[in-house]
Amino acid sequence: MPQEFYQSIQKELSSRDEKNLRRSLYVPQGIDFCSNDYLGLAKDSRIHNALMEGIGIYGAGSTASRLVRGHSEAFVSLERKFSFLSQGMGALFVANGFTANLGLMDAIADLRTVVFCDRLNHASILDGIRLSGAKRVYYDHLDMNDLRAKLEKHRSAKRKILISETIFSMDGDALPIEEYVKLAEEFDVILVLDETHAVGVFGKMGGGLSCDEKFLDAELIPRIDFRIYTMGKALGLEGGLIVYNNESSKDFLINCMRNFIFSTAPMPAIAHAGITACEILFNNPDLVAKPLLNSDYFRKSIQGLAVEQTNSISQIIPLILNSEEQALSVSKQLQDRGLDVRAIRPPTVPSSRLRISIHADHKKEELDRLSETLFEILD
Ligand SMILES: Cc1ncc(COP(=O)(O)O)c(C=O)c1O
Repeated sequence: MPQEFYQSIQKELSSRDEKNLRRSLYVPQGIDFCSNDYLGLAKDSRIHNALMEGIGIYGAGSTASRLVRGHSEAFVSLERKFSFLSQGMGALFVANGFTANLGLMDAIADLRTVVFCDRLNHASILDGIRLSGAKRVYYDHLDMNDLRAKLEKHRSAKRKILISETIFSMDGDALPIEEYVKLAEEFDVILVLDETHAVGVFGKMGGGLSCDEKFLDAELIPRIDFRIYTMGKALGLEGGLIVYNNESSKDFLINCMRNFIFSTAPMPAIAHAGITACEILFNNPDLVAKPLLNSDYFRKSIQGLAVEQTNSISQIIPLILNSEEQALSVSKQLQDRGLDVRAIRPPTVPSSRLRISIHADHKKEELDRLSETLFEILD
């Protein structure tokens, strides 16, 4: 056995222990206040039945990459549904949101590209930029002045990409999307927006922040070059979609996106069930509105709690705590009382926090129980 390797990983784990940063896996218990099942669709029998039906129609695995024999009618229909949902020109279905960001960035950026990246963007975005070899230019979180200054500085770069989440996964705050779209136009940059945590919750039919007229004039949607969606969160399944607005984009991606070309296609049954999930969104505006209504209720109920909050406007409500130790301790106390709230710690986030996620199917009594327990523990 290579001693040096096993000693060094042991050292790494011990160092994480000392800093309260070691992570471990445990099977969930208690009321779910931490998953991304924002609409409760992972538990929905319509989705379960569609999944089973999809297996009956298409079998289990897809058997090959999409370019060989792994392509399927289910993918074609799902991509059509997602184009409608997102008001985009078309969509490409891939294994998950991580794969979508990684593959897209690697395909559209190269060594001569400058990518302007919010400091709090998700790991899949950062890894995609790294893989592409592009120059990454960070700007401060949601700071338009800093972004503008950096765009000015790199104005002459041959290819420029601006990439951001729309609803930030760990802070729950929102991109001033219209200003971003206008800035992208002004500086002639490729604009990529990650709608992972907005889909199903924001916008007409749950199409994301870009489809929400309160945030973006619908006429500007075609100016967003690519949008990333996932079925792994509000849609209760798994799978990623890249929505595009130019007729060459899909052909380019299926020819040049390496993790699309060189990987077995996802199970068609998942796409088949994704079609049902989209139809649920199309036909149930009350369901789509519910996570934000519940979040408003919960946010009011924790007013006065002695803890720092972010500028969240969404169903993701983080409570910033003083240390990793405190975050772990509060999470444990909540768990012991049947409330599944998890601590999120560096390096995932700059400062340790509880990340509370509010769902459509939370009952008022459950929300009250959480807020009352937080007051007991934290005040
Ligand atoms: C902003 C963002 N983008 C992409 C992903 C990856 O999506 P998926 O879970 O479908 O791989 C995540 C996952 O947490 C995310 O938060």
